[in-house]
Amino acid sequence: MRLPFRVEPPQIIEKRGKGYFEPARPAHFTGPPRAYLKMFLLARKDYLSVFRKNDYRSRNSQMRGLGRQLIVVNVPEHVKYVLATRNDNFERKSPAMRRALEYLLGDGLFISDGETWKCRRPLVSDIVHKNRLPDFAHHMEEATLEMVRRWSQFPPGATVDALAEMGGLTAEIIARTVFGDKIGPNDASEIVEGFSSFQGLVDNISLAYVAGFDNGIPLLKTPRLRRAIARVRDVIDRVASNHLEGKTEDGSMLALLVRRQQKNPELGLDLRALRNEAATIFMAGQETTAATLTWAWYLLANAPWAEQALHAEIERVCGNAPPTLADVPRLEYCRAVIEETLRLYPPVPLLGRQARDADRIGNIDVIPSALITISPWLLHRNPDLWNKPNHFVPERFLGGWRPLPYSYIPFASGPRICAGLQFGLTESILCLAILAQRFKVRLAAGTTVRPASRLTLRPLGGLPVTIELR
Ligand code: HEM
Repeated sequence: MRLPFRVEPPQIIEKRGKGYFEPARPAHFTGPPRAYLKMFLLARKDYLSVFRKNDYRSRNSQMRGLGRQLIVVNVPEHVKYVLATRNDNFERKSPAMRRALEYLLGDGLFISDGETWKCRRPLVSDIVHKNRLPDFAHHMEEATLEMVRRWSQFPPGATVDALAEMGGLTAEIIARTVFGDKIGPNDASEIVEGFSSFQGLVDNISLAYVAGFDNGIPLLKTPRLRRAIARVRDVIDRVASNHLEGKTEDGSMLALLVRRQQKNPELGLDLRALRNEAATIFMAGQETTAATLTWAWYLLANAPWAEQALHAEIERVCGNAPPTLADVPRLEYCRAVIEETLRLYPPVPLLGRQARDADRIGNIDVIPSALITISPWLLHRNPDLWNKPNHFVPERFLGGWRPLPYSYIPFASGPRICAGLQFGLTESILCLAILAQRFKVRLAAGTTVRPASRLTLRPLGGLPVTIELR
């Protein structure tokens, strides 16, 4: 739904100097205390723009009106309470998230709750579990090496969009993993572009919830939205159906799901459920990893000291041979770059939950149906928890250092923690190492980076870059 008002997005802050880089972030919101309409309109464009300086500190806040309650939790102890201790009361995703994704994912794990989630979670977790990485990592290596060959053909100075490139790469990897099929550049770009325009058309917050509908109302399917959904679904459906009709023994995640259903018919996974779970793993794994890699290139391009340290490590660990899964445990700096990237630009910057029953978070009384937002974006830049919260400092993650519990949650936490955590982390490290061994990525002249939070956090309009052979 389009509203007839316009609000200007806030100024972007980005600072650099010798040996330091403060990457792009929106300026704090400074409107009057009850500028709710302005905040609401801004939030629909980009939720991160509505946070005030104080929202970044260790405190919880709430907004109440029309019987609705919106709570933002930014204290690690209370993050734990919502995501882990009382997950049973807060497991439900926000109406905006459920409504936005249900056309694509049906009752897939990401947005399901209750019995459906309980039954499917062990199944999906097992299929994407880290123990299966050795079976799937060759897809990561092969698809990235294909990209190395393609990038090597670029004429010097050619400009490409890093977000689209990384989106294509992670789409290839996850498609081969989930469907055991190569989807090829055309289908990959259909998915990346379709999902991208889909994100631009759905809201971060549900107007319907504010107007009194606890479950939101179904998305208005405008022709553009229908087209965006159709682009993504068509590819996934075609690849999944091809696969389900014929070869089910190729070791893909879908084949594993089918086999599990055959062994345990009580699971009741019909064709639709299988497709929904395959689409969920695909979506959850594609977009998030693409965003991580894109932000990592942006950060490295602006931090020459970090880029040098990364190159030195890859050379020390791998020599001239392409990095493989076996190298990942020794690519410590590479891991630190990815962990710091996930701190500064968590691909899922907002975890939205809806309270089932009345509860109490810290000193806030929660009413049934209240919306609770835990924002990794806020938490990861909280000055009470992090030294130099807005600086890019991969070194902070070296030497076995770990952040305080529940202060660093790019993969969420508690029972609904990302099922593909190890998969996503390993894929990001491996793809970055393979590409960084051969190329430097530089921002195209005149590029301004604006982080925009829709369903995921991405650079608005993509990230134009040039690729230099090392
Ligand atoms: C860097 C990459 C990734 C990041 C940052 C990430 C982050 C997240 C987050 C924050 C959630 C929880 C969302 C919420 O509670 O609202 C989530 C859930 C999920 N992720 Fe990931 N993810 C990544 C990669 C992957 C990959 C590669 C896969 C699969 C191969 C995957 C599969 C899932 C699934 C199935 C869920 C739903 C879990 C549930 O609700 O029980 N993710 N992810």
